[in-house]
Amino acid sequence: MKRYTYQQLSSIDKSYLWHPFTQMKSWEKEEILIIEKGSGNYLIDVNGKRYLDGVASLWANVHGHRNKKIDGAVDNQLKKIAHSTFLGLSHPGAIILSRMLIDIAPDGLKRVFYSDSGATAVEIAIKIALQYWFNTGKPQRHIFVSLNNAYHGDTIGSVSVGGIGLFHSTYKPLLFKTIKAPSPYCYRCELGLVYPSCKLACVQKIDEILARNEGRVAALVLEPMIQAAGGFITSPHGYLKAAAMIAKKHNVLLILDEVATGFGRTGKMFACEHEDVKPDIMAVAKGISAGYLPLAATFTTQNIYNAFLGEYAEKKTFYHGHTYTANPLAVAAAIANLEIFKKDKIIRQLQPKIRLLTRGLKKIAALEHVGQIRQLGMMTGIELVLDKKTKQPYPFEHRTGARVCAEIRKHGIILRPLDDVVVLMPPLSITEQEILRLLAEVEKAIRTVTEKPTVKT
Ligand SMILES: Cc1ncc(COP(=O)(O)O)c(C=O)c1O
Repeated sequence: MKRYTYQQLSSIDKSYLWHPFTQMKSWEKEEILIIEKGSGNYLIDVNGKRYLDGVASLWANVHGHRNKKIDGAVDNQLKKIAHSTFLGLSHPGAIILSRMLIDIAPDGLKRVFYSDSGATAVEIAIKIALQYWFNTGKPQRHIFVSLNNAYHGDTIGSVSVGGIGLFHSTYKPLLFKTIKAPSPYCYRCELGLVYPSCKLACVQKIDEILARNEGRVAALVLEPMIQAAGGFITSPHGYLKAAAMIAKKHNVLLILDEVATGFGRTGKMFACEHEDVKPDIMAVAKGISAGYLPLAATFTTQNIYNAFLGEYAEKKTFYHGHTYTANPLAVAAAIANLEIFKKDKIIRQLQPKIRLLTRGLKKIAALEHVGQIRQLGMMTGIELVLDKKTKQPYPFEHRTGARVCAEIRKHGIILRPLDDVVVLMPPLSITEQEILRLLAEVEKAIRTVTEKPTVKT
């Protein structure tokens, strides 16, 4: 590729590109950051400046960038073949990976359906659930129950089970109808209650919804333990377990979306392990390939899989697939990823880092404009508020979270907020020293932005 200067690249970007989740009017005025390389936990821009990757390249990177083992695995696969279709053909990597995945998946999950992103993995989960009931003679079970503040991706099916007004309400005419249960957002409880005296009233609402729609609900869709894009909303102790039991009581399938939480992010391989919950269907993506290449998977039980078996003419087949399903390069990265998890005992190595993070966050929690810190494992959300006593949020247009992230970028750290929740979600390979630096810079950036009069931008 011909070498371009920063100015040339910036000008071409602003002339031709449209970036995701980005107000392009502001983008076109900004000095944009153009990343060219990575090394360990750092991103390196075209001018050679290094940045700590504080959000793991959108919650995906696991063992750092340019990991020798993963690079080598992808390189070796490239010498064989980059891609062949998975429709009607198979390949060794995908076969081997399926068994490795089932070995680590929650008990009861026995089948792997590959795809290429979190949204497709959830979309597939929804379609499988619906068709499961159809194939087993219960087509009236077609309603999906999901949560306010849920985020499951940006395809229409995933948006339908989503519950973030800002992202999803525009598309309402396109979405299929779902029933929404309250978000387990204790800091701003929708039901006006206080945990634990609420006795998990929000989860009882799920029971009420399922009872009111007895025999008509296909599945309950949840992000286990933490609603990530909704603002890193950690559910109260016992919520997930209770929700799973309620789904079981009503014979409703439980779909867990582990796209953000899977592969060690919460301190366990999968978040549902925190409350020993075993879903019927589970979606994973992001960390499955260590954040290297687009890969996702939807796991199901053998019982669900069996409902799709039949004679050709019975049309029980799951008519779904993508051109790049189980791409061999992505699969090679995923196998190397899981080998590293096992060989380097990553989950065990992570525990002291999580404790260090928890200790360090205490100082930040005491800041004047930090309303609440929600942490589960290596996932942290810092909710900024205008008034700590009343929990009054900052005006949306002040972009307080974005300004904190812009401030910290000057000091060589990349973060991306969710509105006024500052998100910390570094690669699991972050070192203790880097955690301390991240915490110190976050504290400084929050102080700089919030402890002076807010300026309208
Ligand atoms: C819980 C959850 N599900 C699904 C998705 C969508 O994943 P993707 O962006 O790979 O489509 C995300 C993305 O952040 C997510 O956090």
